[in-house]
Amino acid sequence: MTIHFSAYIATSLDGFIARSNGDLDWLFNATTSTDDHGYAEYMNGIDTIVMGRNTYQTVLGFGEWPYPEKRVVVLSTTLSADAIPSHLQDKLLLHPGPLPQLLKSLTEHGCNNVYVDGGSVIQSFLAARLLDQITVTTIPILIGSGIPLFGNPGHDIRLAHHKTTAFDSGFVQTTYQISH
Ligand SMILES: NC(=O)c1ccc[n+]([C@@H]2O[C@H](COP(=O)([O-])OP(=O)(O)OC[C@H]3O[C@@H](n4cnc5c(N)ncnc54)[C@H](OP(=O)(O)O)[C@@H]3O)[C@@H](O)[C@H]2O)c1
Repeated sequence: MTIHFSAYIATSLDGFIARSNGDLDWLFNATTSTDDHGYAEYMNGIDTIVMGRNTYQTVLGFGEWPYPEKRVVVLSTTLSADAIPSHLQDKLLLHPGPLPQLLKSLTEHGCNNVYVDGGSVIQSFLAARLLDQITVTTIPILIGSGIPLFGNPGHDIRLAHHKTTAFDSGFVQTTYQISH
């Protein structure tokens, strides 16, 4: 069975997923709406999350681990297994990241629907022509600089528009399918 890889990510209107220091204040303060903007529905379809080390470290800082029911793979060449807090040891898998080996490992673990998270990781999946779908939630704010969602994959990538939803919060969410 082929694995479906998707990303679900928020950016500022000028294309950043975090400030340069990783700060997400602009995102967390963007709305008082209780609407989850489709997040729970998206997560229901996901069995595995692959995230970059930087995203993992941000999530760790949130306190309570938000993905107790999901298989989580953290891509890193620098983290060692003993750096993983003990309460997460059986919930996380560390992987050094070469994508062919990662793909093999995900297949062996029976993963079907994988959420790809983190700017660099999304960029490397795009460059490797592995990402099948991306949902970008655009926050109506310009932050001027930061960590970009997209880089240069080295080739053009055509996307097919699937759906756009404009929420009362002012967030505009667009899903694209990517056929490589
Ligand atoms: N706005 C949003 O919705 C949203 C969502 C997610 C994250 N974020 C924010 O975005 C920031 C993180 O994004 P980021 O681009 O800095 O980092 P990232 O993609 O989360 O992590 C990058 C790290 O992952 C490791 N890695 C291993 N294999 C890789 C591969 N094949 N491709 C890419 N990375 C690989 C490397 O760690 P080693 O150096 O250890 O090898 C690399 O330095 C954080 O501030 C986070 O809070 C925002």
